[in-house]
Amino acid sequence: MIIEYKEILDKLTDINKIDLLESSAVENNNRLLRYIKRLHPKVAVEIGTYRAISTVVLASVCDFVYTFDVLYQSYAESILELFKTENVKYIYKCKNEYPEIIEQDYIDLSLMYGDEIRDEISTLDFDLAFIDGCHGVYKEVKKDFEAVEKCGTVLFHDYRDKFPEIIKFCNSIGCEPLGEFALWQK
Ligand SMILES: C[S@@+](CC[C@H](N)C(=O)[O-])C[C@H]1O[C@@H](n2cnc3c(N)ncnc32)[C@H](O)[C@@H]1O
Repeated sequence: MIIEYKEILDKLTDINKIDLLESSAVENNNRLLRYIKRLHPKVAVEIGTYRAISTVVLASVCDFVYTFDVLYQSYAESILELFKTENVKYIYKCKNEYPEIIEQDYIDLSLMYGDEIRDEISTLDFDLAFIDGCHGVYKEVKKDFEAVEKCGTVLFHDYRDKFPEIIKFCNSIGCEPLGEFALWQK
């Protein structure tokens, strides 16, 4: 069953956790949902789980979603449970040992574990990738794309001024800009 922003907002409001929507690609315009519905993939790979908010939306359209994060995100599992999302495999590479994670930590972790994630992705069959992981290092964004391009359809999030490396890479491969998303198709 399709999950829209309003349903997510209502459920998070009920448990007093609307702050979990922070940094998510899921917004009240339902753009992510609309793009995924239009592309109607069967199996998706997501790079960058965070609180699994976008994962829930992807999983409401796809038969199955593999979602990867460099970090164990404690809220991700709770969110998947809250929305009774069973068609998802959440794969992470390390426990979060820091009380607070800043952008530089994410970059360091990305450099440390990105290749392990890509190796695992190379063993999977999927027909759409959603890239919302490393935002600050051009080389990492490029490697993520190279790991998933075989699927033929790649949607990027955060194609916006705050993330010039994403803009630069998406432009270099001829993505179609879609607001704060960018779409590449073979
Ligand atoms: C902006 S958040 C993702 C938000 C989520 N997709 C959503 O829309 O709800 C970015 C996430 O990417 C993860 N990340 C950073 N570099 C990564 C990499 N190389 N591979 C996988 N995940 C990565 C971070 O740990 C963080 O949880």
